[in-house]
Amino acid sequence: MRVLITGGAGFVGSHVADAVVAAGHEAVLLDALVPQAHGGQPPLWCAEHEVVRGDVRDAGVLAEALHGVDAVCHQAAMVGHGVDPSDAPLYASHNDHGTAVLLAAMYAAKVRRLVLASSMVVYGEGRYTCPAHAIVPPAPRRQQDIAAGRFDPTCPRCGATLMPGLVPEDAPLQPRSIYAATKVAQEHLAAAWAAQSGGEVYALRYHNVYGPRMPRDTPYAGVASIFRSALARGNAPRVLEDGEQRRDFVHVTDVARANLLALTAPPPPEGFAALNICSGEPHTVGDLARVLAATLGGPEPIVVGGARTADVRHVVAAPERAAEVLGFRARVGFAEGVAAFATDPLREPAAVTTMSTVDG
Ligand SMILES: NC(=O)c1ccc[n+]([C@@H]2O[C@H](COP(=O)([O-])OP(=O)(O)OC[C@H]3O[C@@H](n4cnc5c(N)ncnc54)[C@H](O)[C@@H]3O)[C@@H](O)[C@H]2O)c1
Ligand SMILES: [Zn+2]
Repeated sequence: MRVLITGGAGFVGSHVADAVVAAGHEAVLLDALVPQAHGGQPPLWCAEHEVVRGDVRDAGVLAEALHGVDAVCHQAAMVGHGVDPSDAPLYASHNDHGTAVLLAAMYAAKVRRLVLASSMVVYGEGRYTCPAHAIVPPAPRRQQDIAAGRFDPTCPRCGATLMPGLVPEDAPLQPRSIYAATKVAQEHLAAAWAAQSGGEVYALRYHNVYGPRMPRDTPYAGVASIFRSALARGNAPRVLEDGEQRRDFVHVTDVARANLLALTAPPPPEGFAALNICSGEPHTVGDLARVLAATLGGPEPIVVGGARTADVRHVVAAPERAAEVLGFRARVGFAEGVAAFATDPLREPAAVTTMSTVDG
């Protein structure tokens, strides 16, 4: 099988490329090497692969790159929550216009199988239960609650503090940032394309991906690399809120294997399936900072309070559906993966550096 991997020079895409080739398939990588992600050259670890430098928004480049291709693995995107909403046109253009151009090109080239890199950010806040009202969408967190250290969302009906649970794939989609909204739109475009064209789409909702080749601290990086970068400078990792916010940290080699499974799985029965790609082992952001600091012998994390507008409190996922549909189960445990991450090679920073974000 020949697979076109968009965003193939990126963090996740480069691992997908390795997994595809290791399984005996051919990979062609298409990447625009956007300045928010790269310093200009493809990273060294792409050297063994066929890399086309080009943009998914360019129909001409795609028509050529899709020659002889059996399936597309679409990783290319502007990632992270960015700097502020002034970059909304940039996110919508790369992520949504880019996906639309890709879908049209796949239709023209009669390529039916698409694996789409989606994200847990499509859910917004995770799943919560009120002791009196069962599952409820949490009330938006108020600045005065956050300032007073009341971080956990409350019930919109009775005000009780909610209990976090595992998010299933049929939870409502409530994007809380421009980036998140563009990820929801990618899923909708892909699902509609599948319905209209007979295409086959697996949308993989990655949770917090970490591991080797993760970009260093940039406005587009995830929290694991931000903590590691702080420790490398000899500084304590700064943990927002009270450090008890829960996430599912999933290793990039597991995410790459999920992509490989989705590329080769039987078609989803209704043409489109969204699957959580997670470890099934929730941890707090504070745990992550502590394990990294301990492994690197660095200063203890500092809990700094506060929260940013796009931040959600807890998002941890139910892993069963990906296990049933793809046979996917994460293999790299948190302790093992995070200890290794302390010294994993990271991607050199791009030109831009200012703000950080928790989720990708
Ligand atoms: N890293 C995470 O924690 C995480 C979590 C959830 C979802 N995701 C999704 O996974 C995918 C890969 O993310 P990543 O972490 O590897 O990010 P990354 O920035 O390392 O990789 C993205 C790649 O896409 C390329 N790209 C961007 N726009 C392009 C365009 N218009 N045409 C061609 N190439 C373009 C970039 O140059 C980059 O190499 C994204 O779709 C992202 O939304 C990532
Ligand atoms: Zn209630």
